[in-house]
Parts: sequence; structure tokens; C-alpha cells
Amino acid sequence: MDTIIVGGGAIGLAVAWRAAQAGLAVTVVDPNPARGATWAAAGMLAPVTEAHYGEDALLELNLESARRWPSFAAELSEATGRDLGYRQCGTVSVARNPDDNAALDELFAFQQRLDLEVQRLSAREARSLEPALSPRVRGGILVSGDHQVDNRAFVDALRAAAEAAGVTLRRTRVTALRTRGDRVEGVELADGGVLTASEVVLAAGAHSGQIGGVPAAAVPSVRPIKGQLLHLRGPSPLATRNIRGLDVYIVPRADGRVVVGATVEELGFDTRVTAGAVHELLREAWTLLPGLAELELVEATAGLRPGSPDNAPLLGGTAVDGLLLATGHHRHGVLLTPVTADGLAEALTGGPAEAIAAFSPRRFAAAGAPA
Ligand code: GLY
Repeated sequence: MDTIIVGGGAIGLAVAWRAAQAGLAVTVVDPNPARGATWAAAGMLAPVTEAHYGEDALLELNLESARRWPSFAAELSEATGRDLGYRQCGTVSVARNPDDNAALDELFAFQQRLDLEVQRLSAREARSLEPALSPRVRGGILVSGDHQVDNRAFVDALRAAAEAAGVTLRRTRVTALRTRGDRVEGVELADGGVLTASEVVLAAGAHSGQIGGVPAAAVPSVRPIKGQLLHLRGPSPLATRNIRGLDVYIVPRADGRVVVGATVEELGFDTRVTAGAVHELLREAWTLLPGLAELELVEATAGLRPGSPDNAPLLGGTAVDGLLLATGHHRHGVLLTPVTADGLAEALTGGPAEAIAAFSPRRFAAAGAPA
């Protein structure tokens, strides 16, 4: 076998799909494929809305991946015959009060300095775009280039596409990496099996640092960052665009479903849904879209984002020959899936992988810390 991918979430499956398309023999190992962080996400693809101070290189990567999304989604739909719920719907960020509006002024100025496509909205303009917004909103920012995808349809389609392209799926856990000298040899499995391969990609999200046998210099510096989300459902869409408050986002699907997210909590590997988080998410979302109170509450869920020391992903080769990382995507895993898959497939087949070069795991190893 050429390549083992540890982790069958959106990142692992998309890398597997692209690598198989490039002619590699690929096995993905995951005890519960497609049911990790991507399943728990909301599918808001918002590089401009979620731009943060001091993260310029990450913003570039997010924008590059956003540019790849339309063709990636079209190819995946075509390959699987599935509807991914992919829509170039735009996002409206809204202010609940004068303090929020001052924060939006700052965000808008920052976005303009970066030459991003944004439009400042008065309260009236925001409400004329999205009439379900509360009459109390004080203003907004429109990012018409933002998109969304039904993240659950997306990750299930990736699994189908990968299998159709010849990828083998092993439903078990990788317990340890096997190396010989400085080179990867394969992996050991929880079911007692051993797989050999010339290349191994760690794409196990927040669990990527927990695989045994990885030499210290190549252990990914990722930690779990919990996010709790709510799923609601109504007879018709409450809004057309993604709606973003300072402490909440609301992703309305075209069929009346709505996802409300998300908390950001550092509690280790804890995926309990808490009453306090449900209360806060509903309160914040209801303040922006009061009509939400009429919807059916279908599900409350929690997932673990893989956070890295600089909030940017770890992509590409490590100090161990044949060991690559595709993890640390933090808040942007779904958005960054296309560029990660293309970049890793290129790296696995000896290409230049320029799009991901700035995100080499070696940037941490150089500073004396694990990758
Ligand atoms: N990108 C949204 C989140 O991480 O909650």
C-alpha cells in the first residue's frame, strides 16, 4: 500500500479521495468515519466574516480554499450524484447594540484595509436584506461572497467519493505509528492488525496528537477546542444568508433547517452538551432573529475542533520521512478541505504543494516544540 490516512473526517476523506485520483493506493483508518468534528460543524464558509487580526497568512489560505469551493463542490456532487446543499448565500454580521456596532466599525475598517469585499449596512439596510432580523439591530456588514454547505451531506459524500475512487476504509483505531530509523513503515491497529505503507498522514483532528510511536519532534501540537451547536427546524427558511452576531452564528438551510453555533471551550476531550451553552446560544440567536423561538429544537451537539498554537493548520511533511500531517484546522476545517486535499495529494505525489508551504508542521519544530 502507498498511503495510510489516520482519520476519516472531511480532511482525511478528502485527502484520500484526491490521493486515489492521483493514482495512489490509499487506506483510511477510523473507528467511526465521517462522525467527528465535521459532523458537529455548521458548514458556514466565511473567510472574510471570520478574518482575525494578526492571521494574514491564514486568511490567504482561507480565501484560496474559498475560491476552490465552487469547483470542488461541483466535482463532488457530480462524482456522487448527491446534493451537498452548497450555496453562495453571503453573510450578514449584525450588531445588537451600540457597542456591537462600534466593534463592527473596527471589523469593517480592518476588512477594508485587507481589500476584502464588504459592505457596511445601516439597520434599515440589514433588515431589508433579512426581514426576520430583530427591529433592535443597529447595523451590519454584508459579505456577499461567503457561502455555506450542509456539512453532514458534505462529509458523507466525501466518504462515498473516496470509496468509489478505490479508497479502502478500515473501521478501527490506529494505536501506534511504526517507524524504522527515521522512516515510516506503517501503523498498528486496535483490532491487532498491522498495515504497512510508505506514507502515513495524520488527519485525526483533535486526536492527532494521541497516536503512539510518533517521534517527539513530529507529534502534532493540537488540542481539543469544544464547540456546542443547536439544530432547529421550521417550515420555511427564516433567513437567506448566514447571520453572524458577535457571540453566535446562525446558518439557515434552504429547506427550513437552521444551525446555531457555537461555543469555544477549552475542556479537554469533553463532548457533553450543557444546559448553560444551550441557553446562551438560544438567547444570543433569539436576540438577532426572534422568529427562531417558533422553530422546533431538533438536536444539541458538541464537537472538538483541532486547535494549534497559532490557530493555523499543520499541513505537509514532518521530521519523520513519510509522515505527513493534515490537522490543526481549528475553526476552518470545512472551509479548508479543498486546499488541504489538493495540497496533501500534491505533497504525497512529490509535487511542490505551494499552496500549503507556509503551513508546514516544521514551523513549530524549528522553535523547539513538537510539530
Ligand atoms: N467556524 C465556526 C466554528 O468553529 O465554530
